[in-house]
Amino acid sequence: MSVIRIQGLQRLHGEISIQGSKNAALPVMAAALLHSGVVVIKNVPGIQDVFCMMEILEGLGCRCCRDGHTLTIDTRGLCCWQVPEDEGRRMRSSVMLLGPLLGRLHRVNTCYPGGCSIGRRPIDLHLSALEQMGAKICGDEERVEAFAEKLCGTDIRLCFPSVGATENILMAAVAAEGITRIYGAAREPEIQVLCRFLETLGARIDGIGSGFLQVHGGRPLHDGEFTVPGDRIVAGTYLGAVMAAGGEVCLLDAPTDHMAETLCAAQQAGCMIEQKENRLFAKMNGRPLAVNLATGPYPEFSTDLQSVMLAVSCVAQGESWIQENVFEERFATAGELTRLGADIRIEDGTAFVRGKYPLRGNCVQAFDLRGGAALVVAALAAEGESQVHDCFYICRGYEDICRDLTAAGARLSFEGNERKYEENTA
Ligand code: UD1
Repeated sequence: MSVIRIQGLQRLHGEISIQGSKNAALPVMAAALLHSGVVVIKNVPGIQDVFCMMEILEGLGCRCCRDGHTLTIDTRGLCCWQVPEDEGRRMRSSVMLLGPLLGRLHRVNTCYPGGCSIGRRPIDLHLSALEQMGAKICGDEERVEAFAEKLCGTDIRLCFPSVGATENILMAAVAAEGITRIYGAAREPEIQVLCRFLETLGARIDGIGSGFLQVHGGRPLHDGEFTVPGDRIVAGTYLGAVMAAGGEVCLLDAPTDHMAETLCAAQQAGCMIEQKENRLFAKMNGRPLAVNLATGPYPEFSTDLQSVMLAVSCVAQGESWIQENVFEERFATAGELTRLGADIRIEDGTAFVRGKYPLRGNCVQAFDLRGGAALVVAALAAEGESQVHDCFYICRGYEDICRDLTAAGARLSFEGNERKYEENTA
């Protein structure tokens, strides 16, 4: 069992270094499989999802060597197309292996991916795109199996800009013969990162950053070195912490170019933001102002920061609403926030919040990664002690949330002899 204990109502003051991005590092690790050789990836966060992906890659025959935040992956020994069941189920990103394994070994067998319980997470868009590129898909309710003697470039139209599907298509397209065009591609910054990484290995991709991507497949790949950018969701979480607790914090290496909506929401809530080179200063006096938000695909407000902003809204002055448009079950955290004294009503995918301050300390439970972090944020604005149980979810994506917030003067600590999330098979 793992618990974070938080003593609330401490104003924050200090400096926090922002870790490398989880959602960028994981597809980059998967994409390394496309090439037989050695890739060096820098600024890889030390989080459970990365460790899980390393275990999967090793199970497939690769060698992974981690030295601090630098990860070297030697993919020359890749020989297995069967993604290990336990690790595959543990995290959503195992689905990222479909494209690269099909491309390199022409075959893949994996279970349906796990991850947080934030709603239905089908992979129909991934599978249909791979079929259009020539893969034969079979399997049962438990596992997906796909074969492709050769993948062929084609035109693919996504009816929704799915991040994971865009990433899988990109990776398969690099290995495919001919040109693949993706219409309606996701534009999340992590897609751009994956494209840049693939280019580093020798791929050619047009339209990077736009909703139309064109991949010139079949080019020879080579070894490469790449640096993962800072995590915009972690940076947004710590901005949320400043808004809830008040104070003045400097975030180092936050990827501000890709945080426009988050910074805008923070400013609307009354947070003063200033940027100097790689430093983002955030200052919050008094309680946040109420802000209304609707989540959506990038560049709209990120669903990953919805729970954190919900926590901030709970202590805001006045009433606000947050509409969730991406993952239908992402309001699971609302019930736990209520246990901290928050006033939230959920109706038709929208949370209506009446702010009050302070919240009151209590024992609450994390149900998913970002929701768990949001509970920590809310507890910073709660009187007395709070405990966030099952915080192994948080360790999936935050290197050390206690270390980081302690560096900014918060009083919180992690308890438990494992930071793993073995139990998370959701
Ligand atoms: C990625 C991120 C996650 C983020 C999400 C949306 C990673 C590891 N995870 O998840 O943190 O919250 O993008 O920004 O990068 N959908 C389908 N069929 C599919 C695929 C998706 O219906 O085949 C639906 C999903 O159920 C969901 C929506 O599309 O409602 C968005 O999913 P998607 O963009 O694919 O998110 P992920 O790649 O899973």
